[in-house]
Amino acid sequence: MNNLTPAEMVLMRKACEITRDALNYAETLIKPGISTKELDNLVEKFIINSGAYPACKGYEGFPAAICASVNDMVVHGIPNENIILKEGDIISIDLVVNYKGLNGDAARTFPVGKISPEKAKLIEVTKQCFFEGVKHLKVGHRLGELSHAIQEYAEKNGFSVVRELVGHGIGKSMHEPPNVPNYGKVTDGPLVTDNACLAVEPMINMGRKEVWLIEDGWGVVTRDGKASAHYENTVHVTKDGIEILTL
Ligand code: MF3
Ligand code: CO
Repeated sequence: MNNLTPAEMVLMRKACEITRDALNYAETLIKPGISTKELDNLVEKFIINSGAYPACKGYEGFPAAICASVNDMVVHGIPNENIILKEGDIISIDLVVNYKGLNGDAARTFPVGKISPEKAKLIEVTKQCFFEGVKHLKVGHRLGELSHAIQEYAEKNGFSVVRELVGHGIGKSMHEPPNVPNYGKVTDGPLVTDNACLAVEPMINMGRKEVWLIEDGWGVVTRDGKASAHYENTVHVTKDGIEILTL
């Protein structure tokens, strides 16, 4: 797990603030009729105008600034001018901001207009999974305590946890060790160390846990076609407790 210097943490906090602000801005744009490509263009401008850059763009060839994943798409949706939001959809927006070499990563699932009570519950439970998980994120404790708490809360509410995608360490790189699964036993994983930054990101399916990769090589969708939601923040953990940097 990483251990950034105080000077690096100043930049890390700024990266995370821009990440949060970019998501809040994205939320204001979401309405029936807008395409995911328009969202991408506007959010990219916002990030660049903030003095940062969108780290997803070009990452392993990803072609856009944001991941925009609608309804049964779990993550990594490539924005497209032909994907037009409509009333009743849900859209997950995931983005990474690099500010002077440090990275902030966060995701939210937003409703488009009025959505079904089932979808609203999925969004709420996914968000609450994050908060149930980080209650157990403590220096000297197993990371598995967080993972287990997320899985337990999701399944208690009748939903399922995606296994193929996990959270991660974050700092000078977007993805650093350790993996941060959203499932598992309390005895799994490494002991949490002091001054680590982690991206905790439950991805929760309304139906079954299984997913497919679509033909573009990026988009991940549920096999049963039911909706999926995502909620992610970058978290700093020290002996004094946690700080959620992207909130
Ligand atoms: N938050 C996403 C992740 O941790 C960011 C992916 S950027 C992409 O995987 F370029 F890979 F899409
Ligand atoms: Co992430």
